[in-house]
Amino acid sequence: MRGGEKFVLLAIGVLVIFGVGRNLLHVAEPHETDIPFYSTATSEVARKATDLYRENTCRSCHSLWSLKDVMQSVPAPMLDGIGSLRTESWLYDYLSSPNPQAILPSRLKKKYQMPSFALMPESDRKLLASYLASLRVKDWYLEQTKKDEQEKLTGVDQSK
Ligand code: HEC
Repeated sequence: MRGGEKFVLLAIGVLVIFGVGRNLLHVAEPHETDIPFYSTATSEVARKATDLYRENTCRSCHSLWSLKDVMQSVPAPMLDGIGSLRTESWLYDYLSSPNPQAILPSRLKKKYQMPSFALMPESDRKLLASYLASLRVKDWYLEQTKKDEQEKLTGVDQSK
């Protein structure tokens, strides 16, 4: 082997080791592997709310815990972390409104829009609102998402 070839092989070797090492470090970073969503609800509230969520077919439009009815393609917001965005009283009012679009305007066709759950028993609406409010997103993920959004809007890398 000539000196030049040796050098090229060595350079490739260093690059490969560096690349593999970096990937390993990357995987070990907590932010990359953590699930950013969690709930602060008691198991009792979570169980009852999950029943209501199923009975009222929320799942046919929304995704929660990565679950969504695969047969549906309604572009409804995902509900993971919604409690970091909305307060319990906002959620209660929203579920109770005879016209949810008066609170949150919609650009969707009527059949895809958030239906009114004003006729649902009050105790059920309260329970659902308290469960939804318990769905949180971890701060680092929220910060990252905000930065990414800003970056998309402004074209400026906010981390610099
Ligand atoms: C027919 C589809 C559909 C069903 C069923 C449905 N939703 Fe929605 N929901 C939507 C859409 C679409 C929106 C966004 C607002 C709009 O377009 O009306 C929304 C908005 C919301 C929001 C506000 C999200 C935000 O960004 O603040 C919450 C909370 C919510 N829904 C909870 C529920 C719950 C709980 C149920 C079941 C009890 C449910 N939804 C059932 C379609 C649906």
